[in-house]
Amino acid sequence: MNITKQKGTKDIMFKEVNYWQKFESVIKEVCDSHNFSEIRVPTFEATELFSRSVGDGTDIVTKEMYTFKDRGDRSITLRPEFTAGVVRAYVENGLSSRPSPVKLWYAGPVFRYEKMQKGRYREFRQFGVEIFGSSSYLADIESITVAKEILEKLGIYDDLKLKINSIGCKECRAKYIETLREYLKDKIDNMCDDCKVRYEKNIMRIIDCKEDLEVKKEMPMITDYLCEDCKKDFENLQNGLKNLGIEYEIDKKIVRGLDYYNKAVFEFASKDLDLSVGGGGRYDLLVDMLGGAKTPATGFAFGMDRIVLLLEEKGMSIDKRPDIFFIASNGDAYFKASILQNKLRKMGLITDIDICERSFSSQMKYASKINARFVIIIGEDEIKNNIVTIKNLDTGNQFTADFDASVIMKSIEIM
Ligand code: HAM
Repeated sequence: MNITKQKGTKDIMFKEVNYWQKFESVIKEVCDSHNFSEIRVPTFEATELFSRSVGDGTDIVTKEMYTFKDRGDRSITLRPEFTAGVVRAYVENGLSSRPSPVKLWYAGPVFRYEKMQKGRYREFRQFGVEIFGSSSYLADIESITVAKEILEKLGIYDDLKLKINSIGCKECRAKYIETLREYLKDKIDNMCDDCKVRYEKNIMRIIDCKEDLEVKKEMPMITDYLCEDCKKDFENLQNGLKNLGIEYEIDKKIVRGLDYYNKAVFEFASKDLDLSVGGGGRYDLLVDMLGGAKTPATGFAFGMDRIVLLLEEKGMSIDKRPDIFFIASNGDAYFKASILQNKLRKMGLITDIDICERSFSSQMKYASKINARFVIIIGEDEIKNNIVTIKNLDTGNQFTADFDASVIMKSIEIM
């Protein structure tokens, strides 16, 4: 039996890979322009890193992690997200001694054992930023601005909406959780099984569960329990977004699925598809919790596969097309063509040449299958007269030119 790919993984190739490359180049351009530095952290870490930071009671830790014992009997987990690993690296490498704030970005695969559906995979890729050392709402705005600029450059900003919320600090959240627990006390027995578990382990996640909506209509919401400081921070964030003309809506149901958040949280959601393409927020207690000095921090991550889905659905045309396919009649012609080809590549063209020693007509068929713009034919006559024959495959026009890269370049530009 043939071996096939694992459920929830995919092979990214040809047309789709063009979208990925475009996305990756935009990420680098925008992050460079904001003076973020790239960080590359390991794909696997000690399991404890994620259970401590993402949280023991979360779906990610209880149901979705790829965890195994390595040959040295250590419990290892394939990263289900980046933030925990980046914080570990921040602490371990003493990045707090660098000028603050430290602004980092990353991109790469993450792993979650999830039920598969459109836009939900087991190996998927995230791009994200993390900012360490600023407790100001301006740092939240900086990361939202990076996200916005990337989406704008990709032409999909208008297809998404930014939803924000505040889940308060440790103090106001403790008071809120008490009220919520009291409110749900005599209702929880009739709620879904997941929420029964959440009631004990991770009560705030009951808020974004899509079951039992009737019970939840009257549920107390954290925004009504914020302390003065958290209220002020949330107002500042909203005013800042308004001042920058960044549209947003407040969604009191956003509580995020990872335990490390406090205060401002946000998500980018597709207006058409029922999918969150990115999310993030503040996590001021995590650095300290993982052994570093108290350091405020904030960041977000995009699900890159979901962004690429949007680009594909929009049908953005970013196909790559070879400029020239060289058809050489024999070995001598091949080597002459190859020299010319190198010169044209250095001038920026995408060129290709037959490497199967096929007949003239098969080479011609191949050139049209790969959608080349031009073929350049080098046969015996062309070599004798020191010329090339150029054919425009879109129009069928054919003509000859001197065997000279600059002349060829000029002639195909004017065709
Ligand atoms: P998250 O919301 O768990 O946040 O994941 C971020 C994004 O990853 C989601 O918005 C979604 O687009 C994508 N995603 C999640 N699960 C899947 C899946 N199974 N298949 C495809 N895409 C998926 C975090 O991971 C935080 N570390 C973000 C963050 C960074 N917060 C602060 N800094």
